Amino acid sequence: MPESLLTVAYLFASVLFILSLGGLSTQESARRGNLYGVVGMAIAIIATLLHPRMTAYGLSAGAVIGGAVVGAWLAARVAMTAMPELVAALHSFVGLAAVLVGVSTYLNPGVELSGGAHAVHAVEIYLDVAIGALTFTGSIIAWAKLKGSLSGKPLLLPGRHALNALVALTIIGLAVPFAMAPGASALPYLLVMSVLAGLLGVHLVMAIGGADMPVVVSLLNSYSGWTAAAAGFMLSNDLLIVTGALVGSSGAILSTIMCRAMNRSIWSVVFGGFGAAEGAAPAPGGPQGEYNIIDVDDLAASCRDAKSVVIIPGYGMAVAQAQAVVASFTRKLREAGKTVRFAIHPVAGRLPGHMNVLLAEAGLPYDIVLEMDEINGDLPATDLVLVIGANDIVNPGALDDPSSPIYGMPVLETWKARTTVVLKRGRGAGYAGVENPLFFKENTRMYLGDARGSMEKLVAAL
Ligand code: TAP
Repeated sequence: MPESLLTVAYLFASVLFILSLGGLSTQESARRGNLYGVVGMAIAIIATLLHPRMTAYGLSAGAVIGGAVVGAWLAARVAMTAMPELVAALHSFVGLAAVLVGVSTYLNPGVELSGGAHAVHAVEIYLDVAIGALTFTGSIIAWAKLKGSLSGKPLLLPGRHALNALVALTIIGLAVPFAMAPGASALPYLLVMSVLAGLLGVHLVMAIGGADMPVVVSLLNSYSGWTAAAAGFMLSNDLLIVTGALVGSSGAILSTIMCRAMNRSIWSVVFGGFGAAEGAAPAPGGPQGEYNIIDVDDLAASCRDAKSVVIIPGYGMAVAQAQAVVASFTRKLREAGKTVRFAIHPVAGRLPGHMNVLLAEAGLPYDIVLEMDEINGDLPATDLVLVIGANDIVNPGALDDPSSPIYGMPVLETWKARTTVVLKRGRGAGYAGVENPLFFKENTRMYLGDARGSMEKLVAAL
């Protein structure tokens, strides 16, 4: 394929990636957005394989087939609740690939450059490897924390900010002799810097607490995009530059949106030390008390009496895979003339849009699924709120308990409704590991059991 046609193919693929991102921004167009992404990627791969300087077909076939098989196998077996771990693991591959490609480009540049051109190319390689190493180790730590292999507790070394600054300055300082050295003679600088950047990645993510991990995953997503963009400059590949910039900036925008949703400053998350450990048991000293239990018949009666019902789904609905029965419950109530709406917290579940995906899968109409900001004002006029497997996102302590690790995070103010019924299995804490005073309020009732079984009984009782 001639170079000019290749450029056109890359441009076309870039446009498809932009359309793909646009499509993914609403549920109605998400499927189409996905398709644009798939077609764009197929064009990019085929055009690359037809590149005039492409000769290593055997190696490429091995990489593409191997990658596709592993990818399909992982995607088919991953539980929706383990998605953030998978995403973190995949980011680590991007980081590692950037380091390997960067080092090999340095050792075998293809064309001999000298003077300013050599220095600029060296800086491109340096940037690619630095961000790649940081993304690689940071993502591995994030994966281990999300998986539970490492504690969610932030590691707070004394003087950690000074330590980070020192390492960052050393990395910047090493760039000067690296860029000045002729040919590939400065490999030791590149390798020392990779180790330092890797350590920085470990330290930055170790310092971030469990409650802030959602933002970290999208931040690492952003870093992986910038790594790809740096690789694009290094390899003079326009498609990589555009794709990397798209991933980098969309990841940064998502991180900012999530920080706003959790009322955190992005810098506090980047530099760590915020967010508490995830724990199965609530922290001692929190509000204690007896649950007001409700049984299925009384709950069915409350549903019959209510005119307006709001459902707040959370992580437990995903664990129980209760979305289908929640959908048939919704249909039943709507057929009986009741107003039923869903309230979605931006960090409900374990990945952005987690609840929207599950509700869409269950075939619920999009127009009854509302964002937190759209529905919070309506909750005081709501007869019945069903909280299905949610905890942190309905915790009033986030608004009035400054000692809470989730203090400052806006929440769904369900306690303002006439009655709230919480579906959960027992006294398990949520992701942030804190007790929830909502469960002890006078107008709260607890309907205990696995969310799916509980909802099936409720639908039967109705
Ligand atoms: P959580 O606060 O994690 O609470 C989930 C609750 O569901 C638990 O208290 C648990 O109580 C209950 N549960 C678990 N399995 C259940 C089942 N089979 N049936 C019924 N209930 C079940 O969830 P949330 O309210 O959705 O909040 C999300 C949290 O995750 C936030 O802290 C957020 O910061 C964090 N996070 C979010 C993301 C993103 S991007 N969404 C990513 C990582 C972390 P029992 O054990 O008593 O049943």
